[in-house]
Parts: sequence; structure tokens; C-alpha cells
Amino acid sequence: MKITVIGTGYVGLVVGTCLSDFGMDVVCVDNDSSKIDLLNTGETPIYEIGLTEVIKRNVKLGRLSFTTDLRKALNDSEAIFIGVGTPEKENGEADLIALYSIADEIAKSLTVYTVIIIKSTVPVGTAKKLKSYIKSKLNNDCDFDIVSNPEFLREGTAVDDFLNPDRIVLGTDSEKALSIMKEIYRPFSLLDIPIVTTTNETAELIKYVSNTMLALKVSFINEVANLCDATGADVYQVAQAIGMDKRIGPKFLQPGPGYGGSCLPKDVHALAEFSKEFGYTFKLADAIIQINDMQKQRVVSKTKKLLGNLKGKKIALLGLAFKPNTDDVREAPSLYVAEEFRSQGALVSAYDPIAMDQAKQMQPEILYSDDVYTACKMADIAIIMTEWNEFRDLDFSKLKSLMKSPNLYDTKNIYIAKKIINAGFNYLCTGRPVK
Ligand SMILES: NC(=O)c1ccc[n+]([C@@H]2O[C@H](COP(=O)([O-])OP(=O)(O)OC[C@H]3O[C@@H](n4cnc5c(N)ncnc54)[C@H](O)[C@@H]3O)[C@@H](O)[C@H]2O)c1
Repeated sequence: MKITVIGTGYVGLVVGTCLSDFGMDVVCVDNDSSKIDLLNTGETPIYEIGLTEVIKRNVKLGRLSFTTDLRKALNDSEAIFIGVGTPEKENGEADLIALYSIADEIAKSLTVYTVIIIKSTVPVGTAKKLKSYIKSKLNNDCDFDIVSNPEFLREGTAVDDFLNPDRIVLGTDSEKALSIMKEIYRPFSLLDIPIVTTTNETAELIKYVSNTMLALKVSFINEVANLCDATGADVYQVAQAIGMDKRIGPKFLQPGPGYGGSCLPKDVHALAEFSKEFGYTFKLADAIIQINDMQKQRVVSKTKKLLGNLKGKKIALLGLAFKPNTDDVREAPSLYVAEEFRSQGALVSAYDPIAMDQAKQMQPEILYSDDVYTACKMADIAIIMTEWNEFRDLDFSKLKSLMKSPNLYDTKNIYIAKKIINAGFNYLCTGRPVK
């Protein structure tokens, strides 16, 4: 089957690459020529474990190629996957400008029946509106269908997640499109992966509700951690014990400095916004957003409580990516706190194993360092913002000798308090007793 995938970001590149690995003939398109140039020289523009090897294998076999020429890529394509970004607009709504510009091109190119698959996360009603839009722009009577097929992969484990999904959601009212989708996803049905078939609207909503539920779990445990700070209880044990209840489950109950990334923040906002358009106020979404903002701010206030006035203080941030194993810093709590610290007169240094190039583009004012120890030189405090494995066994006597003051704020609770206190540090964490 000849497939075109539009958008070579975390979703499009992984989807296109994995489908080619199933033996399909895939062309990946992006309007960012620097990404396509990199891909055509054998490099991968994003950091994603295992991805480069699968790309190289399929390019070599002639099943995977990259281009900026959308018109040419659409020629003879039987299925078009759309994986372009749907970022947050100022008012919280999802920005669909990229989706509609692609729709214009598709309308000009359609000559045979084609399935258009929306992988991007889009508000409820988008598939139907896009169908009418493309129909209105067609210059022939070519038939097509739109399938809403939201993606649930996580950055950092994207290839594995795409290949081993918990479920596949297919939203369409067309039997013809559904049978083509089932053919595309046939390798998954052989693995007994459940396929949920539904309407476009339900599929669109499933994605937003899924991300809102995850954001809710994070915000819930963050509030519990704050209550533990106040009461002296231990959030780790609370989470462990409630997680043993099968109705609650143990996942996504790790407190920290708030959630970030390119999905949860924008998707909770978008859900809140489009719900209003349908005449419903989704109060929980507003609360989740508020709690998450508060949690990021709490990192700043706890640091201030320890250090006092931040003017002239040096703060070392360990980890910038919004989570380990990715280079993505979009909406990362680290960048929020860095900006707050700088606005209060502190000097911010930072080290991240993978995400520094991305962070530099957003905050060039940070003093970027080649390793943890350089970042911490003469620092008044080191703050672990991302739980990268390489931060789990730091040399604390070395750190103590080179920092101005031995202060460690472990926002992700990767250390046992006693160990750090015995090493001569003041230790702050999130919702665990410090003794
Ligand atoms: N990142 C994730 O973990 C994840 C998971 C599930 C769903 N999603 C959703 O998938 C969508 C894509 O997310 P992403 O993280 O891959 O985004 P991304 O920003 O990493 O990639 C989007 C790509 O689309 C390209 N693009 C934009 N406009 C284009 C156009 N007109 N023509 C061709 N290419 C164009 C961009 O250059 C970019 O390379 C979003 O809707 C997101 O919410 C993301």
C-alpha cells in the first residue's frame, strides 16, 4: 500500500517509519526543509530511542523516503496520515492552521478514492468540518473519507508505544475506510491489540479525555504531595498504597514540579475551550490547569524560602526536558522556573544530557554547562527538574566541594533524604518527610 505521512515530528516520523517497517511504501513529508535535509542525510531530527535504526533500515530497503514536495507525495497515495502540530493558540484553543493548509493541497491532488487519517490531536467536530472543507475545494467528484485515528505514543518510548499500543481507536462512519484501516493495522490484530471502532467525534474526544485524565492524575498526586508537605506524611507511601487499589492503579502517581510537554498542557486547555463551544463548562479541566500552574510556582517559592532573596544567587537546574529520554522542552516546568528565577535576579545555569540545544533556542540567557558538576560550580542550590538516570548517583562530596552552599532540591524525589543529609546537604523534595 502506498502511504503518505504529513509532518515528520514525534508522531508523523514514528508512524511513517513504523508503517514502512511493516512493509508499506511510505513517503514522509514536511514543510521544514531542514528536517527533510537531515533525514535525507541519514540523521534524525528528534531524539527517540531506536528510531534512527528503523529509519535507516527502511530507507535502505527503498520503502521509506522523505520530501518537502507534498503535491508529488500525494500522487497515487491510497492513505494519507496527517501528523502536523496542533499547538495552543493564545486563547487556549487548538490551532488548526497547518491542518487546513494541508487540506487545500489534498483537495487539489485527489483523483482516486483516498482515506485521510487524522493522527494529530484535534477538537471534536474537526473531521466532519474538514470533510466539508475538502469537498468544497475539490475540482472533481472524487470520493474520500476521513478517519480519526488519535495517537497515544509517549515521547521517549515512541517507537515501542506505537508498535505495542494498549488500543487502536478508529473513528469513521465509512465501512470502506474502516476496512482499509484494518488492512493497514493488520499486523496489530495479529498481536491481539484491541481496536475500538467508533464515530469521528467519539474518537476525537477519546484522545482529549485520555490526556486530561493523565493530567488529572498528575495534578491529583501533586496536591496530595503538597498536603504531605504540610502534614509530614509521605507521598511515596500514599501513592503506593492507593495505587494497589485496582480501581486506581499505580501509574502516573509520581509527584513533581508539574506536568509539561507538547501534549498534556495544550490538550487540557483545548478540552476546556471546545467544551464551552458545545455549551458545557468542564470545571475539572480549569482546576487541573490551575493546580499545574501552582505546582510550577511552588518550586520557585520553596527555593525562595530556603535561599531568601534570589538576587545574585546562582541556581543550577539539572534536567531541562519535560521528562527523561526526550529532547522536548515544550512547556517544560524547568523553563518556567528558569524564567521566574532570572526575573528575580538569579543567575541560572543548567545541564541536560539531550535537551540543551532545544532549550537554548527558547532561553539563550541560561548558562548551559557540559556536565552536572560544571553547572553546579559556585551554585547556591542545585535543583533536579528531570529524573534522568545519570542524576541518580551523583558524587555528593564533589558537589559539596564545588557548590557555594550545599543545597539540593530534588523535585522528582529520586533520592532518599537521609543519604543526602548525611552527605552534608540541605535537602528539599516533593511531599516526603526530610529527616
Ligand atoms: N508528541 C507526542 O507525544 C504526541 C502524542 C500523541 C499525539 N500527538 C499529537 O500529534 C500532533 C503532532 O505532534 P508532534 O509532537 O509530532 O508535533 P511536532 O511539532 O513534533 O511535528 C509536527 C511536524 O509537522 C510539520 N508541519 C507543520 N505544518 C506543516 C505543513 N503545512 N506541511 C507539512 N508539514 C508540516 C512541522 O514542520 C513538524 O515537523 C499534534 O496534534 C499532537 O498533539 C503528539
